[in-house]
Amino acid sequence: MHDFETMEEMRAWSGRHRANGDRVGLVATMGFLHEGHLHLVDTIREHVDQVVVSVFVNPTQFGPDEDFDRYPRGLDRDRDALRARSADCLFHPTEREMYPTPGVIRVDPGVLGQLLCGRTRPGHFAGVLTVVSKLLHIVEPDVAVFGRKDLQQSVLIERMVRDLDIPVEIITAPIVREADGLAMSSRNRYLSNEQRRAAPAIAQALDTAWATFQNGERDSAKLVDSARAILAAQSEITVEYLDIVDPDTLIAMAVADVSSMMAVAAHLGETRLIDNIVLGSGTSSDLRVPA
Ligand code: PAJ
Repeated sequence: MHDFETMEEMRAWSGRHRANGDRVGLVATMGFLHEGHLHLVDTIREHVDQVVVSVFVNPTQFGPDEDFDRYPRGLDRDRDALRARSADCLFHPTEREMYPTPGVIRVDPGVLGQLLCGRTRPGHFAGVLTVVSKLLHIVEPDVAVFGRKDLQQSVLIERMVRDLDIPVEIITAPIVREADGLAMSSRNRYLSNEQRRAAPAIAQALDTAWATFQNGERDSAKLVDSARAILAAQSEITVEYLDIVDPDTLIAMAVADVSSMMAVAAHLGETRLIDNIVLGSGTSSDLRVPA
């Protein structure tokens, strides 16, 4: 596996492969890789000849009171996991390489960045879109894959690519879950034992709303109530938002339909977790790792 720290090396490698007729794919991550990230590697492998994985904990997407400093990092561990998964190239730039001078220009997510997570994380999605556009310009992949776990992020990236005519195909991959349903996240490691035991209720709440929808309920308020009842039973969990939204506009829907998504953000102590489900999917398209 190739291992690059500089943009110059990364761009040259990618350019050589594209000149040879290879299709290049990008999996952008902040590292501390888990099965959710590694599934993205397997997914993109089916579409391209060369798989690039970037690992960069992007400071500009963290708010001043957020967890940038303590965000888990482990490049050696990530390198081993990527080798085992046959990734072709690891790009792990330093902060100085990515931001040699403080950036002035940022990609504005507009109204889509103010909904859901944007309500409590001002500037977060501008930071995400800016770093993703930089990575797309450095790696110049034919295809890039993002996980539906971060619903708003994947919607915004698809929109950015469309609105700014960035020549890349975006693929969205299903959510990978622990055996008990908890969506995999690098932040799960912050949870205490007690919080970890409570956390699967987030996915159970979404499953309950899904089942209520499948039984014919279309009133969003009632669907939200069915999910809230599950979360209310867990004293460890505080709900930040629990909304039914249109998958393209992320605007709340009073009446749900087959395309509607339920999205949730919840706090367990200091830890903030997000999750979502497609209410109308016939069966859950999410993946669970075996116990
Ligand atoms: P990170 O949280 O490391 O996630 C990297 C990619 O993995 C994202 O596309 C995310 O949606 C996906 N992912 C994480 N957990 C997943 C799960 N349980 N199932 C499926 N996919 C999952 O998201 C970021 O990093 C950053 O914002 C980034 C896009 C790299 C920009 O800095």
